[in-house]
Amino acid sequence: MTTIVSIFNHKGGVSKTTTTFNLGWMLARLGKRVILVDADPQCNLTGVTLGLTASWPPDEVGPDHDTSQDEEYSHTQEQAQDFFSKNLEKTLYGALKPAFESEPRFLEPVDCIPIEGRPGLYLLPGHLQLGEYEVSLSIAQELSGSLLALKNVPGAINYLLRCTAEALNIDYVLVDMSPSLGSLNQNIVSISDRVVVPTSPDFFSIMAVRSLARVLPRWKRWAESASQNEVLRTANYPFPAPTLKFAGGVIQRYRLYRSPSDTNPVGDPTGPFRVWINRVATSIRSDLVPALAKSGLMIDDQVYASAGIHSYILAQIQEFNSLLPKSQEHRVPVFELGEETLGQVGVVLEGSMRQVRSLLRIFDEFGNRLIAVSEDSE
Ligand SMILES: Nc1ncnc2c1ncn2[C@@H]1O[C@H](COP(=O)(O)OP(=O)(O)O)[C@@H](O)[C@H]1O
Ligand SMILES: [Mg+2]
Repeated sequence: MTTIVSIFNHKGGVSKTTTTFNLGWMLARLGKRVILVDADPQCNLTGVTLGLTASWPPDEVGPDHDTSQDEEYSHTQEQAQDFFSKNLEKTLYGALKPAFESEPRFLEPVDCIPIEGRPGLYLLPGHLQLGEYEVSLSIAQELSGSLLALKNVPGAINYLLRCTAEALNIDYVLVDMSPSLGSLNQNIVSISDRVVVPTSPDFFSIMAVRSLARVLPRWKRWAESASQNEVLRTANYPFPAPTLKFAGGVIQRYRLYRSPSDTNPVGDPTGPFRVWINRVATSIRSDLVPALAKSGLMIDDQVYASAGIHSYILAQIQEFNSLLPKSQEHRVPVFELGEETLGQVGVVLEGSMRQVRSLLRIFDEFGNRLIAVSEDSE
């Protein structure tokens, strides 16, 4: 059985893309077979995973700046151009074309790209033009008179992801999404089995959580009527009955005042961050969860409890600091960094390795918790 997991929050910059990559890698490390799907037309996940993004602007500009950075930039841009021109069919946009452009052929499983360094982990790349499907989706999802001509559109993403997962014998499909409440995201969340909501410890995340408390139940009601719609039932790709449940939240990117140590392996957030972590957790528990429970979007409380999940938070993840550029350079998650990739020695290396071990422990727990709340199929 494949579990489709949306990594969703309509607020940007809350680590959706970073979480998709790190969590997917961890699930594969735990022995699961995983596809990362880039459903954000900005293609950040595709860029990060395939090394198609170069740091820009250069560290220093001016007459003496290091021109090798310009060359690296130009080289990566050409690689990106080359990748998209050769692999259109392998992108979410290209693979969905038969359904969205009424071509006389069926959707076929995507030949996903194996991610280097982690067997069992694949990428289904994004494409900037994926945004062009928003309009057809939004017209089709009105479920009104014009539906007949677009009847193969609403169920297409579900069909494509599930047949691709079946072809590769996949356990988890993690979908990274754009920061919007548009029809593409509505469709993807509605066909998912689980949703993970990444947040950051700030006021805007609380606003976003409150808004999700209204939006997710509305999307669930829509998915129910789409799955019962007579026209969609006769489509090539019928819209499925919703199976969506809330897996939990993630709070990420806060500073530590005490670094991780052997006796305190996750470290302690600084005072102001601790306050906002608690406020976000409270908002998830008291604004979001009751609204989701009313709509049948929660799993049994016992399942969260026995998975060791408190306040519906799957993981609290600190700021990566200097580990971030190293992980980007080597295209591995922060928790896979080691002596060689860090390129450090002595006390600096020791400090970094304490951070790496702390993050490994956090992501290992995160992965196992997601598995626990996904395998409950009530
Ligand atoms: N724990 C973290 N520590 C440091 N930087 C982070 C962390 N999580 C994310 N980032 C950085 O923050 C920025 C936004 O994260 P990203 O995953 O792209 O968010 P989103 O996909 O929600 O817009 C990126 O530059 C990313 O590298
Ligand atoms: Mg993103």
